[in-house]
Amino acid sequence: MKIAVGSDHGGFKLKPVVIETIEKLGAECYDFGCYDGSSVDYVDYAKKVADAVLSGEYDLGILICGTGIGMSIAANKFKGIRCAHCEDVYSAKMTRLHNDANILAIGERVTGAGLAEEIVKAFIETPFSKDERHIKRIEKIREIEDENFK
Ligand code: RB5
Repeated sequence: MKIAVGSDHGGFKLKPVVIETIEKLGAECYDFGCYDGSSVDYVDYAKKVADAVLSGEYDLGILICGTGIGMSIAANKFKGIRCAHCEDVYSAKMTRLHNDANILAIGERVTGAGLAEEIVKAFIETPFSKDERHIKRIEKIREIEDENFK
């Protein structure tokens, strides 16, 4: 499994924890930046990770900013991205099972390192349920995207 990771300066300190967690699980990981703590725009890193996931080269993405909110708003503007902003393990698990979320967004200023590790683990280790009712709902999301995105 290949995971694309990105953060802004607000998520920069939590990113090594996320990367270490991914690697401990035996998954491959690429860090799309940022690479230091200087102030940057989260949107640019959401775009890099969203593009990486949409290219098919990466199975999942993880985005970190101060709250996780800006990253999730930006990532969800990309057709085909289902980015879940999670602050607990249950949501991270359920968004894979039910929504087939392909990007996780977390907030360094909200979620501590230990919890972030558990959230990332749940997100990566949980497969999509492939249950018909969930497939149908995701299909409806795709229809909305087709109607509203170029
Ligand atoms: C940066 O200060 C902060 O606004 C950003 O990391 C994020 O929390 C935005 O949603």
